[in-house]
Amino acid sequence: EGASSLDIAGLTRRTGLTTLDNGFVNTASTRSAITFIDGDQGILRYRGYPIEELAQGSTYLETAWLLIHGELPSASELEEFDARIRRHTLLHEDMRRFFAALPHTAHPMTVLSSGISALSTYYEDSLSVHDPAQVEAATIRLLAKLPVIAAYAHKKTLGQAFLYPDNSLSFVDNFLKLNFGTNAEPYEVDPVLSKALERLLILHEDHEQNASASTVRLVGSTEANMFVSVAAGIAALSGPLHGGANEAVLTMLAKIRDSGEGVEKFVERVKKKEEGVRLMGFGHRVYKSYDPRAKLVKESADEVLDSLGVTDPLLDLARELEQIALEDDYFIERRLYPNVDFYTGVLYKAMGFPPRMFTVLFAIGRLPGWIAHWREANGDPTTKIGRPQQLYTGPHERHLTR
Ligand code: ACO
Repeated sequence: EGASSLDIAGLTRRTGLTTLDNGFVNTASTRSAITFIDGDQGILRYRGYPIEELAQGSTYLETAWLLIHGELPSASELEEFDARIRRHTLLHEDMRRFFAALPHTAHPMTVLSSGISALSTYYEDSLSVHDPAQVEAATIRLLAKLPVIAAYAHKKTLGQAFLYPDNSLSFVDNFLKLNFGTNAEPYEVDPVLSKALERLLILHEDHEQNASASTVRLVGSTEANMFVSVAAGIAALSGPLHGGANEAVLTMLAKIRDSGEGVEKFVERVKKKEEGVRLMGFGHRVYKSYDPRAKLVKESADEVLDSLGVTDPLLDLARELEQIALEDDYFIERRLYPNVDFYTGVLYKAMGFPPRMFTVLFAIGRLPGWIAHWREANGDPTTKIGRPQQLYTGPHERHLTR
């Protein structure tokens, strides 16, 4: 009783059989047509397009459209999409009180996730999960306003006044100005910086069922609105084993530099599995070869640092660390390679972002993927509320003796 036959097509019916798969290493949580990864060969494609081609020839917004709608936009669709996003960049003035209520020491990722939840309170007209126009409105509002909240989180840590968005600028240039411009003097966007950031954002736009996208899908499966689902995704991204790794890599490199212990000694400590010591930015649940995104970021690092005229000993340290790790049996046997986070921090630092903003930049990059996943799940009639099973390991029945 209660056990039905295994529904291979849908895998949706209770079978009476429960599997325990810690961390979902072998269990698919969904079908998805958004992103393809071959972790053994280091292949990543969005809707069939190789990441290398998109990073080279697309823009953040064009790739966002591709992820969300499944096809590249026509020229007029892209123009309209871009124009709608530009029109929606302003935050409600009352949101100033939201920022004012937080300490300047608040981590920008926490400001971002609570800011997105707070944002939802202003848009009762975009919270429906069933009305396509409202889903579209939520999509546009999130894409337009999340970067503004991110930039204000940065400004808050600096104690500087918030700038209004400049809608004459492109998405990326507007974001740079909001972060690095001031009310005191004009701000000229450096095209090298702009191109590099656009590329990094494209590389981060989706990565199938990672912890944050799965969180967005799980929260969305309860028919929670897109804003709060994305806020939960930001929270999931913030951990050092996920998006927080880019900040952790820089902290690790700075510690190695400051301790003077040298890269080899540090690697020995990693191999001994000393408490809390991991080679951050190395290893990946899916990639068992070089992460294709890391390859592209590494290529950018030289180019960008050269054109910005920045020399950073941390980049040399990162290279040395990679070289040693890639030749060491511990890392070879476990198939541990640099992931996307290994070199991004060095680049973000060269652009002028403080380490605490690194994961926020990842979140801006990942937003289109979260939206695409939320919409894919929401539009799929076979989606059910996510409700994992557990194997109970607690005490047997017992009673109060009072
Ligand atoms: N440094 C040292 N050893 C490692 C590392 C690492 N970075 N990553 C994995 N290992 C070792 C583990 O100790 C384990 O060894 P064992 O078999 O002797 O016990 C083996 O490799 C397998 O590791 P798991 O933790 O089981 O691998 P999992 O797939 O669960 O973890 C993860 C993947 C979380 C990314 C892991 O590699 C890690 O912690 N990396 C560092 C953090 C990081 O860079 N995260 C960013 C990931 S990419 C992203 O989110 C964008």
